[in-house]
Amino acid sequence: MGQDGVRFGEIDTSRPHPARIYDYLLGGKDNYEVDQQAADELAAAAPEVWISVRANRAFLQRAVQYAVGTGVRQILDIGTGLPTSPNVHEVARQVAPDVRVAYIDNDPIVAAHGNALLSSSGSTRIVLGDLRDPQALVDHPEVRQVIDFRQPVVLMLIAVLHFLTDEEDPARVVATLRDALPAGSFLVLSHATGDFADRAAAQAVYNKATASMNLRSRAEVERFFAGFDLVEPGVVQVPFWRPDTPPPARSGEIGFYGGVARKSG
Ligand SMILES: C[S@@+](CC[C@H](N)C(=O)[O-])C[C@H]1O[C@@H](n2cnc3c(N)ncnc32)[C@H](O)[C@@H]1O
Repeated sequence: MGQDGVRFGEIDTSRPHPARIYDYLLGGKDNYEVDQQAADELAAAAPEVWISVRANRAFLQRAVQYAVGTGVRQILDIGTGLPTSPNVHEVARQVAPDVRVAYIDNDPIVAAHGNALLSSSGSTRIVLGDLRDPQALVDHPEVRQVIDFRQPVVLMLIAVLHFLTDEEDPARVVATLRDALPAGSFLVLSHATGDFADRAAAQAVYNKATASMNLRSRAEVERFFAGFDLVEPGVVQVPFWRPDTPPPARSGEIGFYGGVARKSG
């Protein structure tokens, strides 16, 4: 699936979707009443969620600028979310106009909106695919149209791995993707955590959504970087990863860890 599009009839408006909840929290318009209710419940249980999603997007931008700034010219962004300006390819191309980007998400609404946004761009693709089958993503012909796995790649797993349960073995998923990448590639990852507050009520909101929320500790998040070398400052709450402006008030409550690491030879 991809450039040939996705039918809107496939979009389920009876249950909240993570992509649409997140879009609503970011102030987007691509969401339904069921998503808005879930997001409002989430914010009632975890009021810092409003600043957390913005801090996560700001981390995404800084991490892309950093990784592309080292010279890597290809990005594989899995768990893309609905288009949110500036999108990854827009941030990357401010640094280097020739960057190629493959976006992957398992939600048809993301692929549909992404197709509309990206249809004019030959060096960008949006592909409907599932992180739980990582080898299929690496082998996907449309991904291969823009990503050359013989050259370094920035692998982005931003705010997506927490939708995989322990039984779905997210460490194996990351390892499969890592093994497909050559030395000099980067892993850019962020992940929700309950380390800074009891988030049981917030987690419960996702029980009726299309994916569960699996909060993980700092040590668990660090383990996803196995086989990569973390760049400074390591795995930290996202506002504290190489901030370019003073971190917002209440940053210490933000429930997202983030980190960037390089695969060595
Ligand atoms: C919270 S949004 C994050 C969007 C973007 N990466 C960001 O951080 O701004 C999570 C996205 O991951 C997608 N997602 C969840 N589970 C997935 C899976 N198993 N495979 C691919 N995408 C998935 C959702 O559809 C959603 O668009």
